[in-house]
Amino acid sequence: MDSRRFKLFYIVVVILTFFFVYTFNGNESVPKEYVLEDLKKTVSNGTVPSEIDEPEDVDPKDLPNYKLEGMDRFEWYAKKRKEEIINNKIKEVPVPKDVEISMLSAYEYDVEYTVSITNKDIDRSILYCRYFDEDGEEILPAFQSYNFPVFAVNCEKRKGTKRISISTQATNNYTYPIDLIDRTKKDNYKYEFSFCMAPFYGNESKWLFIAELVEHYRLQGMTHFYFYVYHINQYDNAILQDYVRTGEAEVIYLLDRDEKPVLWQHIVNRDCVLRSRHESKWVLHADLDERLLMTKYPGTILDYLINFNDTTVGALIFRQQWIFKTEFLPEKYEGDKQIDTWLPTLRWHNSSSFGPHLHTTKCIIMPEKVFSMWVHYPKIWYPGYRWYMLEVEEGIVRHYRDQNMQDWKNKYLQRTLEFGPTSLTNYPEKYQKSLTEAVKRRTKYVYEKYKMIN
Ligand SMILES: *[C@@H]1O[C@H](CO)[C@@H](O)[C@H](O)[C@H]1NC(C)=O
Ligand SMILES: *[C@@H]1O[C@H](CO)[C@@H](O)[C@H](O)[C@H]1NC(C)=O
Ligand SMILES: *[C@@H]1O[C@H](CO)[C@@H](O)[C@H](O)[C@H]1NC(C)=O
Ligand SMILES: *[C@@H]1O[C@H](CO)[C@@H](O)[C@H](O)[C@H]1NC(C)=O
Ligand SMILES: *[C@@H]1O[C@H](CO)[C@@H](O)[C@H](O)[C@H]1NC(C)=O
Repeated sequence: MDSRRFKLFYIVVVILTFFFVYTFNGNESVPKEYVLEDLKKTVSNGTVPSEIDEPEDVDPKDLPNYKLEGMDRFEWYAKKRKEEIINNKIKEVPVPKDVEISMLSAYEYDVEYTVSITNKDIDRSILYCRYFDEDGEEILPAFQSYNFPVFAVNCEKRKGTKRISISTQATNNYTYPIDLIDRTKKDNYKYEFSFCMAPFYGNESKWLFIAELVEHYRLQGMTHFYFYVYHINQYDNAILQDYVRTGEAEVIYLLDRDEKPVLWQHIVNRDCVLRSRHESKWVLHADLDERLLMTKYPGTILDYLINFNDTTVGALIFRQQWIFKTEFLPEKYEGDKQIDTWLPTLRWHNSSSFGPHLHTTKCIIMPEKVFSMWVHYPKIWYPGYRWYMLEVEEGIVRHYRDQNMQDWKNKYLQRTLEFGPTSLTNYPEKYQKSLTEAVKRRTKYVYEKYKMIN
C-alpha cells in the first residue's frame, strides 16, 4: 500500500469507527447524551475524570463522629491512655529505637486509620504512623500516636495515603508498608451477625468441631465467620477452606515472627473488632468449642438481635456452662455413623452449673461501640455505650471444655464445681436433627474422597 492509499484507508477506518461507536451506543438502553458526554470527557484530553477522589475532600474532622466527648478523638485517646497508665501503675518505657513493628492489618475508617500490630512488651508506648502515596513515596511528617489500646495504633487520616507503616521514631527506618483495608461507613452492613473466632492452635483434631460450629451458628442466623489460624493441619484446613469456597468464611493467617501463643488471642480480639467494624452489625467473640444458645426466648440468636432495640447497648453478655469433654475428637472422617457417635453435641452431656455474671462470659458486640475488647467482655467503650447481661433464662454458652488440654481438670475443675451441682444436659432437641444432618452433609462432601498431599 502506498502512503496516499494508506492515509485514505486510515481516514475511512477512523470515520467508520466513530460511526459504529455512535450508532451502537444509540440503542434504547443507553441514553445518547450520556454516551456523548462520556466520550467527550475521555476523548477530549485523554483523562478520565476521577470521581473516586471526591470523598477524600471531606475533612474527617468535620464528620459528626470525629469528636469523642466533645474532644478531638486523638486527644481523647491520649487522655484514656494516661488514665490506664495511672490506674494500672504502669511504668512508661520508651520503645528501643531498633525494635521493628510487626503489622497484621491496616484499616481505613471515615475518621481515622487503625493498624493492628503484634509486638509484645511495648503496651501503650509512643509509636509513629508513616504514610505512603500510591508511588510508595512517604508523605511527611510522621504522626505521633500510641500502641493503644494495646496491639492497635490509631493514625490521623492524610490525603493521598495508600499504604501505611508504623515505626518507633518519627524519622527512623520503617518496615514494609501495608495496604489499607476499606472500612469506611456504608449505608448498610454487609453482615448482620458474624463470628470472630479465637485463633486455631494446638494439635487436637478440629475438622468435626469446625463443621459443628459453622452449622450450629448458621442455624442461629449467622452468615459470616472471621477465622484466624495460628496452627492447623492440612486435613482440618480442608473443611475450613471449603467454607471459604462457599462464601461463609474468611481466613486470616497469623505469621509469627516470635512465639506468642497466648497473646495471639488478644491480638485477634483486637484485629477482629477492627476488621468487622462497619462490616458486621453484631459479632460474637468466642472459641471453637463454645455454642451460644437462647434458652426460654423462642427464636434464634439472630431473631433476638433484630428485636434488640436499645441503641446504648454495645455488648450482650452470655453466662457460661461447662460441658465436660472427656476424650479427644477423631482424627479422620469415617462416615455418617461416626458423626452420630462423635458429634460433640451428641456425645457429651455432663454439665456444670452456670458461672456467675462476667466470669468467663462470652459476648456478642457491636464493633463500632467497643474501643477495647477483651476475651470475656469489652474493657473500654466509646463514650455513651454499655453492656447488657443476659440471664440464663434468656441465653447461655454451652462450652464443650476438654478436661485434659492445658491440664484443665487439675487447674479449674474444682472451682467450676463450686458454682453448684452437675447435671446431664442436652443440646436443644429442636435444633439437634438439623445440626446433625448439616454436619453429615458437609463432612461427607469434603472428606469422603479427600486425599492428603505428602
Ligand atoms: C480535561 O478535561 C476536563 C473536562 O473538560 C477538565 O476539567 C480538566 O481540567 C482537563 N484536564 C486537563 C489536564 O486538561
Ligand atoms: C533499621 O535498620 C537497622 C540497620 O540496618 C536495623 O538494625 C534495625 O533493626 C532497623 N530497624 C527497623 C525498625 O527496621
Ligand atoms: C499432641 O501433642 C501431645 C503432646 O505434645 C501428644 O501427646 C499427642 O500425641 C499429640 N497428638 C496428635 C494428634 O498429634
Ligand atoms: C424495644 O423492645 C421492647 C421489648 O421487645 C419493647 O417493649 C419496646 O417497646 C421497644 N422499644 C422501641 C423503642 O421500639
Ligand atoms: C460429671 O462430672 C463430675 C466432675 O468430673 C463428676 O464428679 C460426676 O460424677 C460426673 N457425672 C456423671 C453423671 O458422669
